[in-house]
Amino acid sequence: MSKSISGFSKLSKSKKIDWIVSTYFSNAESAKNILKQYWNNNEKLQQLHDEFIENTITNYYLPLGVAPNFLINDKLYTIPMAIEESSVVAAASKAAKFWLERGGFKTKVISTTKIGQVHFKFSGNIDTLQPFFNALKPKLIEESSDITKNMTKRGGGILDIELRDKTAELENYYQLHASFETLDAMGANFINSCLEQFAKTLKSEALKHQGFSEDERGIDVIMSILSNYVPDCLVRAEVSCPVEDLSENKAMSGEAFAHKFIEAVNIAEIEPFRAVTHNKGVMNGIDAVILATGNDFRAVEAGVHAYAARHGRYSSLTHAKVEDGIFTFWTEIPLALGTVGGLTGLHPLVKLSLEMLHNPSAKELMQIVAVAGLAQNFAALRSLTTTGIQQGHMKMHLMNILNQFEANTDEKEVLTAHFKNNTVSHSAVTEALNKLRVDGEK
Ligand code: MEV
Repeated sequence: MSKSISGFSKLSKSKKIDWIVSTYFSNAESAKNILKQYWNNNEKLQQLHDEFIENTITNYYLPLGVAPNFLINDKLYTIPMAIEESSVVAAASKAAKFWLERGGFKTKVISTTKIGQVHFKFSGNIDTLQPFFNALKPKLIEESSDITKNMTKRGGGILDIELRDKTAELENYYQLHASFETLDAMGANFINSCLEQFAKTLKSEALKHQGFSEDERGIDVIMSILSNYVPDCLVRAEVSCPVEDLSENKAMSGEAFAHKFIEAVNIAEIEPFRAVTHNKGVMNGIDAVILATGNDFRAVEAGVHAYAARHGRYSSLTHAKVEDGIFTFWTEIPLALGTVGGLTGLHPLVKLSLEMLHNPSAKELMQIVAVAGLAQNFAALRSLTTTGIQQGHMKMHLMNILNQFEANTDEKEVLTAHFKNNTVSHSAVTEALNKLRVDGEK
């Protein structure tokens, strides 16, 4: 039976672990050993990780893989990817190689505007609030100048603040809807600090405003927070080539491939059940690069899926067509990313990943990440519409199954060779491994 605890966060790391292992594990010693196995020997490095969050008890590893041969706007990249799913890096590498031989990826940043809102309740109507806001706007900007001065010097800052009347949907609900340019920072701290200052100015100026009634003066600020929905922080990535160049072997012509591929995309455009899985494949590539570069994958996920549903039905993030004999496959996707601030200067592997990507600006990183998503989706659709997904997926998963059965190096070698020409399934691997072990005993 588990129990509650007070003051847990104040305990030392070792006391926290003692409490966890004695409360939840039948074999406390073995649980403790597993946790400690993942500690880093370098104490400073371990402390850095301990201090990223509260109540750290150990590190949680994900593999950091790389996908080479990405030609993006005529520049070659090796893309770092942090992900646990066995086939993702292999698929990205394959797609990179395929497009390397066909002109590579072309990308462009369409816009980089981010949004934040002060949500508040006002008991009067818009006719009294609007003139107050018009007069207040310069003061909102001026009183946040301590926060914005560095960003403004570098060419970013507050772009605009609007008053939005939302009372038709929720009684007395209004917003300060602000837009920002945050340059190479993802900008969450910057935006939230500006918004909290706007809220203070809004409240204090309303209290003094002669044009308001007593009730109206008491503006009720509900919250001030950035939005992770960033439809105007948008990047485009595309690949294209003559249809006949899509053919890799005699088994399928370029035309037949393009036909099936485009139909697969068309299905994801109109069928939400398929679109979700289709976009999950896009996010396999996107999240892996976002994690490797220390960005916030939850923010990106939330924003991307809202964007995929922006027309009222959840739909594909990628699109494909053939026009005048040219096959084009593209995505336009909202990505609010940073290459300064947050984990980017702190986590040694994030710094290393960014250097591997030629220390990109946030705009360059948006383009690289969009390419990783497009490549991943291309690889998935190519498998799905030709061999089926399981062949490649299970080949990559073979090692996981072998590890599950604690296969040794020799067994892995024999069975990897065996499954080059045989279908991988959990039962087939179990059977082959058992047979190998029995034969070995004879
Ligand atoms: C698996 O992680 C991703 C796929 O399901 C994506 C897709 O179906 O397009 C293969």
